[in-house]
Amino acid sequence: MSAHVKRVGLLTGGGDCPGLNAVIRAVTKSLISYDGIQVIGFEDGFLGLIEKRYKPLDWDAVSGILQQGGTILGTSNKADPFHHAVEKDGALHYVDYSEQTIDNCRDIGIDALVCIGGDGTMAIAKELMNKGLPIVGVPKTIDNDLYGTDVTFGYDTAVSIAAEAIDRIHTTAQSHHRIMLVETMGRYAGWLTLGAGLAGGADVILIPEIEYDLDVIAERVKERSHKGRRFSIIAVSEGAKPRGGELTVQRIVEDSPDKLRLGGVSIKLCSQIEDVTGLEARATILGHLQRGGTPTAFDRVLATRYGVAAADMVRRGHFGRMAALRGNEITSVAIEEIGGRTRKVQRDDQLISAALATGVSLGV
Ligand code: F6P
Repeated sequence: MSAHVKRVGLLTGGGDCPGLNAVIRAVTKSLISYDGIQVIGFEDGFLGLIEKRYKPLDWDAVSGILQQGGTILGTSNKADPFHHAVEKDGALHYVDYSEQTIDNCRDIGIDALVCIGGDGTMAIAKELMNKGLPIVGVPKTIDNDLYGTDVTFGYDTAVSIAAEAIDRIHTTAQSHHRIMLVETMGRYAGWLTLGAGLAGGADVILIPEIEYDLDVIAERVKERSHKGRRFSIIAVSEGAKPRGGELTVQRIVEDSPDKLRLGGVSIKLCSQIEDVTGLEARATILGHLQRGGTPTAFDRVLATRYGVAAADMVRRGHFGRMAALRGNEITSVAIEEIGGRTRKVQRDDQLISAALATGVSLGV
């Protein structure tokens, strides 16, 4: 054990995600089992660090939360110590609050910070590390797009929820002989849609990495109809776009580092498919349902393994690293290497081959 570690801070950053509480629990229980280590949890991600809002985490505080969705600490996908929004004369101004944030950590007396989050959180963690804060990361996101790890916790749960939604949508598709589009999250990566589409038996899967061709989709749907399969299921990523076309932006969140919120491509596509095929279609946007509720058993176990690994890194003084999964082994990767990078679906990915081999159209 590193002799220097007496007090550790922990925060959850970015969007909420099933399994966050399982990580908080694992890090805390694992660390406080060692004499003298105290754990505190910052509220609302980096905002709690900036505003010095935190609470002590002990065995009781983290008992009974393993299966709870969300995060008991709260989170923020806007807070950034290097770009902190301050209101002055009725307008928002952005200031670099990083020096004060580091001072806050000294005042509070934390020797290390565990950051649980996705690419945005790791990018901020990297900058804080460069200012001297010892940090360990844990990879979170339903999008599964974080560079440096095979799987993030939360992904399995989101895939399961979206696959179940596709199963349920099948009922109406079959009964009404309709084309049903199911829009999933995932931002600029297609992992969630690909996983859910394969698990749900979608006929067409549209992901951001492969720009679609409307005519190809229409042909596939008509071909099924001619063969007597009078319905089709299309799983579409919120980040999918037509060849040479634009993303469908649902809203712009001005005070967020990643300002674009995607959504609505399935609605556009639904009416285009009706126009081209003459078949009736409907679109369902799954939205935040995919992030809500209890984590799957797989995510609970993965989150626990990540949390225990992060605690271990803290104890050993292995800072500047994020816990990662390679194959079925927990390992770690330098946060410096990740900071802000994402992982997209490649054309030669085995999930793509599996989709093609089982007759799924990718819209091209
Ligand atoms: O990164 C997780 C995620 O759920 C994305 O899949 C989605 O694009 C985005 O967050 C939605 O963000 P918000 O909760 O701010 O609407």
